Amino acid sequence: TEAKYIQYQGLLVSTAAHSWESLEYAQNFPVQHTDVFAVTYPKSGTVWMQEILPLVLNGGDLTPVLTIRNHDRVPWLECKQLAEIVDRLTSPRALVTHLPYSLMPPSFHASKAKVIYVTRDPKDVLVSSYYFHQMAAFLEDPGTFDEFLGKFLEGRVPFGKWTEHVKSWKSAELGDRILFITYEEMVQDLPASIRRISDFLGSNLSDEVIQKIAEHCSFRSMKDNDMSNFSHVSNQYMDTNKSSFLRKGIVGDWKNHFSSEKLVRFVSVMNQELKEESSCLPWS
Ligand code: PPS
Repeated sequence: TEAKYIQYQGLLVSTAAHSWESLEYAQNFPVQHTDVFAVTYPKSGTVWMQEILPLVLNGGDLTPVLTIRNHDRVPWLECKQLAEIVDRLTSPRALVTHLPYSLMPPSFHASKAKVIYVTRDPKDVLVSSYYFHQMAAFLEDPGTFDEFLGKFLEGRVPFGKWTEHVKSWKSAELGDRILFITYEEMVQDLPASIRRISDFLGSNLSDEVIQKIAEHCSFRSMKDNDMSNFSHVSNQYMDTNKSSFLRKGIVGDWKNHFSSEKLVRFVSVMNQELKEESSCLPWS
C-alpha cells in the first residue's frame, strides 16, 4: 500500500490530497492580482472561509455556496484537484492553502493578491485534529490523545509544526495585503468578523447582507448544507461513526481533553518556540 504521507521540501503532506506533482503545480501556479487566499494551519477555519469568501465577494448571492461543493468553489492551492477546477473559476478567485509562507509560489510574491490568515487556539486545533485523524482513513491513526499531543508538538503531523506555520505568516511583510483574524473572534461575533473581511476586500456590503451571510455561515447552517458538510464523502474515507468534519465548532473544547499536566507541557513548548512572538497570538 502507498505511504500515507510524503515530504515535499521538508513539508509533510497526505498522499490522498497531495502529490509531488500537485505541489509543483502549486509552486508554478499563476496567481492573479485579484486573487484572495485564506491561509490556515489545518483545523483552524478553512472550510468556514470557503463558505464566507464567495458570499463576501459576490454581494451575498447564495447560489455558489448552495450549488458548488466547497473544495470546488474555493479550491485548495496544493491539492491534486486544482488543475481540473481552476479553469472554471471566475475572478476575483478565492483559494485556500495550508502552505507555510516560504512555500508560496513566486507568482504570489509578484502579485497584489490578498491574504486572510486565520489562527485558532492551538489547543483547540490539536483537539479538532485528533478527532479528524480518527475519522479520516487517509491520515495516520493518532494513537492516544497523549501520543497525538507529542506528535503535534514535534510537528510529526501534516503541514508540520503549528508554531512554524504561524511564525512564518506573522513575520511575512505583506503590509496591507494581509488580514489576521482568529477563529475565536469569528465564533464570538460572526457579523463583525465578516464586516472586517468585507472591508479588507473592498466589498461594500450593507448590514443586511452581512447579517444574511452570517446566518448562512453559522455552524448549524453549514452542517445542513450538503455542499459544505462533506456528506458526499464515503465513510471509507471519513468515518462519520467516529466523528464529523463539522464536529463541535466551539471555542475551548481543549478543556475537556487537557489534564493540568498536559496543559503545562503544551504551553511551555509553545512559549519556548514562540518566544517574543507569543504576545500577538490568540491563546492563553
Ligand atoms: S481542514 O481539514 O483543515 O480543512 O479543517 P478546517 O476547516 O480548517 O477546520 C475544521 C474546524 O472548523 C470548524 N468549523 C466551524 N466552527 C464554527 N462555525 C462554523 N461555521 C464552522 N465551520 C467549520 C469545524 O467544526 C472544525 O472544528 P471542530 O473543533 O473539530 O468542530
